[in-house]
Parts: sequence; C-alpha cells; structure tokens
Amino acid sequence: MRICIVGTGYVGLVAGTCLAEIGHRVVCVDDDRQKIEVLQGGRMPIYEPGLDELVARNLRENRLAFTADLKEGIDAATAVFICVGTPPLEDGDADLSAVEQVARRIGELSSSYKLVVEKSTVPVQTGKWIEKTLMVYGDSGRSEFDVASNPEFLREGSAVIDFLHPDRIVVGVEHPRAERLLREMYEPIIRRTFVCPVHSTCPATEPVPFLVTDIRSAELIKHASNAFLATKISFINSVADLCELVGADVELVAKGMGLDGRIGRAFLKAGLGFGGFCFPKDLQAFVKIAERCGHDFRLLREVDRINQARVPQAIRRLKEQLWILKEKVIGVWGLAFKPDTDDLRYSPAIALVKQLLAEGASVRAYDPKAMEKARGEIASAIFSRDPYEAVSGADALVVATEWREFEGLDLTRVKTLMRRPLILDGRNLFDREKMRSMGFEYLGIGR
Ligand code: UDX
Repeated sequence: MRICIVGTGYVGLVAGTCLAEIGHRVVCVDDDRQKIEVLQGGRMPIYEPGLDELVARNLRENRLAFTADLKEGIDAATAVFICVGTPPLEDGDADLSAVEQVARRIGELSSSYKLVVEKSTVPVQTGKWIEKTLMVYGDSGRSEFDVASNPEFLREGSAVIDFLHPDRIVVGVEHPRAERLLREMYEPIIRRTFVCPVHSTCPATEPVPFLVTDIRSAELIKHASNAFLATKISFINSVADLCELVGADVELVAKGMGLDGRIGRAFLKAGLGFGGFCFPKDLQAFVKIAERCGHDFRLLREVDRINQARVPQAIRRLKEQLWILKEKVIGVWGLAFKPDTDDLRYSPAIALVKQLLAEGASVRAYDPKAMEKARGEIASAIFSRDPYEAVSGADALVVATEWREFEGLDLTRVKTLMRRPLILDGRNLFDREKMRSMGFEYLGIGR
C-alpha cells in the first residue's frame, strides 16, 4: 500500500519506518527541511534503539522516502497518517493547530481518495473536526475522504518492537472501507507474517488483537490507557511514602501486589515519578477535555499532583541528610526521563538538577545518551565524562534514571571517590542491603 506519514517525530518516524519494513511504500513528510535532509542522508534526529538500521535499509531498498513537500507525499498515497505534535497549551489543553493545518492542507491538495488516519494523541472528538475540515477545504469533485483514528502505544526506547509486536491494534472507523484498508495495511503484523528484524524467531504466534471501534472510543482508548498507567505509578509512589513512614519495603509490596494477575507487575515501580512527552501532557489534556465535557476527573488531577510532588520530596530528603545544599557537590546519574532514550522532555531528573542548582549546589551530571541535549537545559551543571567523574568529591549521589550500565559499575571505586558516601537511589536500582554493607549511607524510595 502507498502510505504518507505527516510529521517525523517519534511516532511518525517509527510508524513510517516500520510500515515500510513490513512491505509498504512510505513517504514521510515534515516541514522542517533540516530534519528531512538529515533523514535523507540516513542519519537520525533522535536516539531510538534499532531505528537507524531500519531507516537505512528501507531507504536503500526504496520503500521509504523523506520530503518536505506535502503534495509530493500525498499524491500517490491511499492512506495519510497525521503524526504531528500536539504540545500542551498554558492551561493544559492540547494545541491542535498543527493537526488542523495538516488536515486543511490534505483537503486542499488531494486529488484522489484518501484515508486520513489520526495517530497523534488527540482529544476525543478531534476525528469529527478533521472530517469537517477535509470537507470544507477539500474539493468533493476531485477527492473523497475517510477518517480513522489509530492510536499508538509506543514506548520510547522500545518503539520499534512495540510497533511490530503490539499488544493490540486499535482502529476507530466510521466506514467499512476504512476498516478494510487498515486491516490490509496491518495484516503482516496481525498475522506475524513479516520477517522480524529484531528477533530471529518471533516470541508469539497468536494473531495480534485487532480492535475495531467508533472513532470517539478509539480516541478515548489512547488517553484512558496512558492515564491508567500514570495512575498506577502515582498509586505505588503514594504507597512508597507510606512504606517509608512504617518501615516497609515498597519493592516487596509491589511484588506481592503484582503477582495478582488482575493487577500485574508492570508500572508499579516507585521512584521520582513519571516524565516524558506523553504521560504528563496527556494526563493534563485528558483532565481538560473531561472538564470541557462537564466531567470533573478529580482522580487524575490527584495523580498529577502526586507526581509533581516527587522531585521536591527527593530534595527534602537530601536536605535532611546534608542540611545545606549550597556549595555541596551532588553527583547525578541519569538525565533522560527514563533509560534507553535521550529524551529530556518533562524528565524528573532535569527537574531535580534544576532545583539543586537553584539551591546553589554544584551538580556533576552524567547520562549515557542525553548529555548533548542536556547542555541547553542545565547549562550551569558540570557535565562529566563518565559516572565516576560525576561522583568525584561528591557529598551525595542521586540516581535519577535507571540505566542498566549503572548497575555494573565498580561501587567500591564510587565510594572511594565520594567525599561522603551518601546515595539517594531515586529509582531503587541498587540492592539496599548490599549498599549498606559496603558502607554507603543508602536512601531508596519507599524502603
Ligand atoms: C508511554 C506509554 O507507555 C506508551 O504506551 C505511549 O504511547 C506513550 O507514553 P513512554 O513515555 O515512552 O511511553 O514511557 P514509559 O515507559 O511508559 O514510561 C513513562 C514514565 O513513567 C517514565 O518517566 C518512567 O520512568 C515512569 N515509570 C514507568 C515509573 O516511574 N514507574 C513505572 O513503573 C513505569
């Protein structure tokens, strides 16, 4: 199938590349010409494991192309995916101006049938607006449109695997033709008939559930899923606070809870809270849409409030140990909002470093992938070449992102390098007993 992807951010680039990988002809469009040139040259504007190889191969084999010209992108396409950004406005609402603009341009430029698929995370009822926009700006004599919602559930760091081996594919449609096209497009993934570029033998053989709903329900599935996962995290973080007060261990509590199949282990990791460009903004946008529809989603406002209190609480705990932060040297391991990405957006680690700097502390930061991006965000931090340099002369170390490589470090060396062997393990990466037996003053979260 010929597919056009508009917007080459995380979602668009991964979706476009993976759709090419399973055999479609894909053109990715972005009005950022510089980014398009980078991509045309086979280079990556973001770090996402495995994506670079897939882009290079599909470019080489002519299934994937990049252009800044929307008309060129949509001309031959049957399906056009809208994957542009929906950043938060001041009041928490999603800014849909880019979605509207793309819909308008697709309307104006199309000269044949198009299935227009919204893949950006958008508030419920956006599909209706896209449909109206296409009708108003499209020429019904030349073109015809179907609109569909096809939310993505990709996690940064494992986006390629998530796309090719999803738990489910959700499509919201109003017309059988749209359902048929989307089913055909995803057929290799549903039936797992493509040659998997990640696994030599694919882990599962059952077909992937393909859920067909109306457009509004599909839109809600996306927001409700993210909001539910965020709720799990804030829930366990609140339990962690209680654990600290009563002397229990949240890791054990989460394990005990998670063994109940109805609850599950996933997303019960206590820590400095959730970040990234999805959870915080989607949560706020969901609360806003609900509010606009006359529903006060108090539960989610509380989930957000609990999350926002995580970093200030970590700072308080440091102060309880260090008394004054001014002129203290604090090593920080991890800056990305989670491991395996260089994304710093809404990263709790960055919020923590900013607060430490504002208190007058000297921050020695290290992250395996996000150093370059961090320079613009926390310019007055000292950027260390490796994790050891970051703890050299430090009065405390904060583990802010749980990169696997931190687990294998020489902790005896870390202890010798530090002025005071105090660790605030904001992601419960290390074994508490082991750390204490090595002579560290170890503070975990909820333990
Ligand atoms: C999320 C959703 O998982 C994905 O389905 C959606 O499409 C986009 O948003 P992502 O933002 O990449 O993906 O990250 P995710 O792995 O979900 O983690 C989000 C945040 O929650 C991170 O900051 C992570 O550190 C935090 N987290 C996650 C916890 O604090 N505890 C957990 O148990 C899980």
